[in-house]
Amino acid sequence: MATLFRNIGELFTNDPAWGDRFGILQDAAVEFDAGVITWVGSDTDAAQRTPSEVVDCTGNAVIPGFVDSHTHLVFAGDRSAEFEARMAGEKYTAGGINSTVTATRSATDSELRELLAVRVQEMKSQGTSTVEIKTGYGLTVEHEVRLARIAREFTDDVTFLGAHVVPSDFDGSADDYVDLVCGEMLDAVAPYAKWIDVFCETGAFTEEQSERILDAGRRAGLLPRIHGAQLGPSGAVALAVSRGAVSIDHGTFLTDADIELLAGSTTGVTLLPGAEFSTRQPYPDARRLLDAGVTVALATNCNPGSSFTSSMPFCIALAVREMGMTPAEALWSATAGGARALGRDDVGRIAVGAKAHLVELAAPNHVHLAYRPGVNLVHRTTF
Ligand code: NIG
Repeated sequence: MATLFRNIGELFTNDPAWGDRFGILQDAAVEFDAGVITWVGSDTDAAQRTPSEVVDCTGNAVIPGFVDSHTHLVFAGDRSAEFEARMAGEKYTAGGINSTVTATRSATDSELRELLAVRVQEMKSQGTSTVEIKTGYGLTVEHEVRLARIAREFTDDVTFLGAHVVPSDFDGSADDYVDLVCGEMLDAVAPYAKWIDVFCETGAFTEEQSERILDAGRRAGLLPRIHGAQLGPSGAVALAVSRGAVSIDHGTFLTDADIELLAGSTTGVTLLPGAEFSTRQPYPDARRLLDAGVTVALATNCNPGSSFTSSMPFCIALAVREMGMTPAEALWSATAGGARALGRDDVGRIAVGAKAHLVELAAPNHVHLAYRPGVNLVHRTTF
């Protein structure tokens, strides 16, 4: 039972077959059947199609569903007081993670599932069709498995982040905690996860510890990604590149040498401007990365400590206003870029064979995503 979206003012496909990497078509149409795109073309040619249903987009823009490739969505508790203190001048540190760990451990499975369902729905209503979810607020074998299992009910892109921070119960014995993460915890979580991650930063894990964790994860069949250069320059980039990580996430403090290394590698950078917004840090310079030829993804980093936003359009607006991206580059990074950061080609683009994750905006073109910050422009979705 095919459905045809007609009278699309601007179709943002991310399909280079239409000229450049953004693949923007004017006066277009798109058809899908059983959740998969079956045809893309001009509205004039759409007259030859014979779908069961036709949707008139009345000249609105249609874009791919956002791919949010970095979230910490499974948690309980509230850290608004921490945010308030930061806005009054306090500095963000990794230490606050432990307060969410305490609240999350106390929540029941059904409470966590309900909190997660609400957050995923909030994302969908703002145009996000694909979401990655990390563990990292359990930090015991029992609780990390619980978080991974619940996350897996919502996505195939589950990331094991047992190495989020050294939990208070291991104060002074970080290496013992790393042993646990690389051993019993990894064995128990791996069946639910696709990715292995580590927060490689002062106050979290050292480069040596991070290397051990990524390598153990790879031996268990997980794919590496890394949190790094969020709070200051670090060796995380070199580690990510040496392990063939698909992305280093944050990358706020990248040196020229880091960028050179990234440009010659298959590792991209996932920028998370919600974190800079909520921690009052300087924004990363996306222009510098793009000009060097580095692949850039944008994601929300939705978490209770450093970035409690579920809105990809908000991140797009920040990237355009503060990070030197054009609206088209920012939208690409929030869709195709996110898909790259998850090693996927079935999402983040509008082309035959891709998933029919379409977002019709109540706007004539994609520029409105940054031009109208704070306004939910999502008019209709197919997911
Ligand atoms: O991506 N960097 C580490 N993890 C989160 C912060 C989590 C928290 O503060 O609770 C982040 O910013």
